[in-house]
Amino acid sequence: MNRSVQDEWLDEMDTDDPAAVRSRRDLRLINTMMGGERWIVKQLGECEGIKHCIEIGAGEGRLSEAIKCAFPDMKVTALDRIARPEGLAVGVEWMQEDVFHLEKSLEFDVSVAVVSNLFIHHFEDGELESLLGMLSGAGVILLAEPYRSKGAKFLGKLIYPLINHVTKHDMMISIEAGFVEGELTSLLGDQWVCEEKKSLLGGLCLKGVRK
Ligand SMILES: C[S@@+](CC[C@H](N)C(=O)[O-])C[C@H]1O[C@@H](n2cnc3c(N)ncnc32)[C@H](O)[C@@H]1O
Repeated sequence: MNRSVQDEWLDEMDTDDPAAVRSRRDLRLINTMMGGERWIVKQLGECEGIKHCIEIGAGEGRLSEAIKCAFPDMKVTALDRIARPEGLAVGVEWMQEDVFHLEKSLEFDVSVAVVSNLFIHHFEDGELESLLGMLSGAGVILLAEPYRSKGAKFLGKLIYPLINHVTKHDMMISIEAGFVEGELTSLLGDQWVCEEKKSLLGGLCLKGVRK
């Protein structure tokens, strides 16, 4: 299956549209099942010298909250183009910004980890090369993304009774825009030592440590 990037409905909807609210709730279920957020928090705990964690495409900011809770001394910044979610933990800094403009407001060095869950598959390979290039000053990159396969689509359909029409649509689009082994490593380029891990439930995780 070739990689194909198409617009996701949730990205185009008003934040308070009931179907969007429901779909964001569905995403929590999917995140719990896929385990990408747990994997990111665990990996972060194994990285030395990280003082600032930046989550890109943070959505409701739950991963950033979990990171702040696990590592209270770490500065945690969550970036998304939507406004700061209501009730987000005060310890999490929110940046409402298009990710392609992050260089304007954020600085990267080896003490910075950039993390992202179910986000970078939104972009075509060329856009990703430019985005990942902007992050090249960071010390660590942790990504959890959909695994692109017919098996992942089959697994996704098993939870159709639990999710709404927006989530059903976006899940299939996300899998088709996801990655297979080696693609994320190759997009990141050769200044990173990369490890990839495929999860049982349709996820592919990448840990990149700057050489
Ligand atoms: C599928 S949601 C994932 C949210 C969250 N990471 C999660 O796992 O629940 C994708 C998020 O990316 C954000 N987004 C999409 N394009 C963006 C861009 N160009 N810059 C910043 N955020 C963007 C959307 O607003 C949305 O919150």
